Amino acid sequence: MTTLYERALRVFPPVASRATKLGIVRAEGCWVYDENGKAYLDFASGVAVTNTGHNHPAVVQRAAEQMRQMIHVGHNVFYYEPYVQLAERLVEVTGGDTKVYFSNSGAEANEGAVKLVQYVTGRPEVIAFAHSFHGRTLGSLALTGSNAAYRRMYETALRRVYFARYPKPAPGEDPEEAVRASLESINDLFELQVSPDRVAAIIVEPVQGEGGYVIPPRSFLEKLRGICDEHGILLIFDEVQTGFGRTGHLFAYQTFGVKPDILTLGKAIASGFPLSAVIARQDLMDRWPAGAHGGTFGGNPVSCAAGLATLDLLEGGLIDNARAMGNYLVAQLRESLAEFQEVYDVRGVGLMVAVEFRDPGSGAELSDMVKEILARCEQGGLILLSCGPGKTVVRFMPPLIVDKKDIDQAVQVFRDSVAAAVRSVN
Ligand SMILES: Cc1ncc(COP(=O)(O)O)c(C=O)c1O
Repeated sequence: MTTLYERALRVFPPVASRATKLGIVRAEGCWVYDENGKAYLDFASGVAVTNTGHNHPAVVQRAAEQMRQMIHVGHNVFYYEPYVQLAERLVEVTGGDTKVYFSNSGAEANEGAVKLVQYVTGRPEVIAFAHSFHGRTLGSLALTGSNAAYRRMYETALRRVYFARYPKPAPGEDPEEAVRASLESINDLFELQVSPDRVAAIIVEPVQGEGGYVIPPRSFLEKLRGICDEHGILLIFDEVQTGFGRTGHLFAYQTFGVKPDILTLGKAIASGFPLSAVIARQDLMDRWPAGAHGGTFGGNPVSCAAGLATLDLLEGGLIDNARAMGNYLVAQLRESLAEFQEVYDVRGVGLMVAVEFRDPGSGAELSDMVKEILARCEQGGLILLSCGPGKTVVRFMPPLIVDKKDIDQAVQVFRDSVAAAVRSVN
C-alpha cells in the first residue's frame, strides 16, 4: 500500500514537511490513529490547538448545527449570531472593556495588532524578543526571532523590528538576574537604537512557546507593563499558544496577573476550526476606523460556533483540569527522570510543560538525543514535539481533557525513550 507520506512526497514541496511521517485517519479525545490502525497519545494537540480534545462531541454538534444553517455569508457583508455572540463572550471574559476583531490565523492576528498600534499611536516601531515566535507571514515573521532559517532569503521584505532579551533563568539562578538583563536590553535599545517615543508597541509571549517553553518570572511582565506605561507604548501579549486554558487560566495574562492593552489569540480558540482574534482596549479599538483592516473569512460562522462550544467546555472544568494535570505531569516527569544527568530542567505552567536536555559536562545542546527520544516515543505510541534554540526542549501540550492514566502512560513511554537514547549515546 502506498502510504499518505509517499503520496505526499510527490505533491508537496520540502517546505511542507512534517514532524512525523505518519498518515492519520482518525482522531478522538487525546488519541490519533494511523493508516495501520495504530493508536498514538497525541501530546502535540495539532500544535496546541485541540485543547478540548479531538472531535469533542459538543464542538462537533455545535459546528454541525451551524453548518446546516449557514457556512459563510461574510463578515464584510452581514452580521450573524455566532460571530456577535463569540465576540460578546470574549469581551466578557477579558474584563468587559475590550473589543474584538476576528481573523483566521495567529500570524494574521499579530499583523492586525501591529496595524492597530501603528494606527492609533502614529508611531512606526515595534519591539519584540529574541527567540519569539509570532508567525510566518511577512508581517508577523518580522516579529519572529526564534530561528534565522525562518527569515533567510526574506530579510529585505521584513519590516525592521528591534529585539530585546527574553528572561530565561537557569535552574538554580536568581530569576531576578535574568529579568534585570532583559530590562537592560530594552534600555539599551532605547539609548542606542530607537527612541521610546517612536515605539508603538512591545509584543511578547507571556510564556515563550516555539522559543523553548520559557516561563518568565511574573516580575518581568509587571516591569514590562511599567515600561510601556512610562513611555506611552502599548503592550501586546501574543497568547496564540498560551491562550484558552493552556496555562491553567483562560489566558496567561490571568495566570501572571498582568494585563496587556492588546491580546492576540488563535490556535485553540475554536478547537481546530480556523479562527483568530485581536482583542484590545475599547478606547484603542474605537480609534481604528472602517477600511483600516479587513479580510474575507475572519469570523466564519462555523468557526465561531465551535469557539462558543470551546469556551463552554473550558469554563465547564477543563481549565481546572489543566492546572491539576499540569502539576501532576511535572511531578511525574521530575520523579521519573531524576536519574538522568542529561535532563537539564523540567518546567511547566498548566499544561505547557517542557523537558530540556543538555550535556551534563559541557552544557552543550543535545539536539540529536532529543530527535532520537522523539522518534522512540513515536514508536512507543506517544507524539511529542521539540522546541527551543537547537531543538533541545521536548514540549508536552496534551489536550486539556487529559487524565492521570494518559499521563502515566506518556511518562512511562517518555522515560523508556530517554533511557534508551541515553544508553545508545554512551
Ligand atoms: C505564540 C504564537 N504566535 C503566533 C503563531 C502563529 O500562528 P499561526 O500559525 O496560526 O499563524 C504561533 C504558532 O505557532 C504561536 O505559537
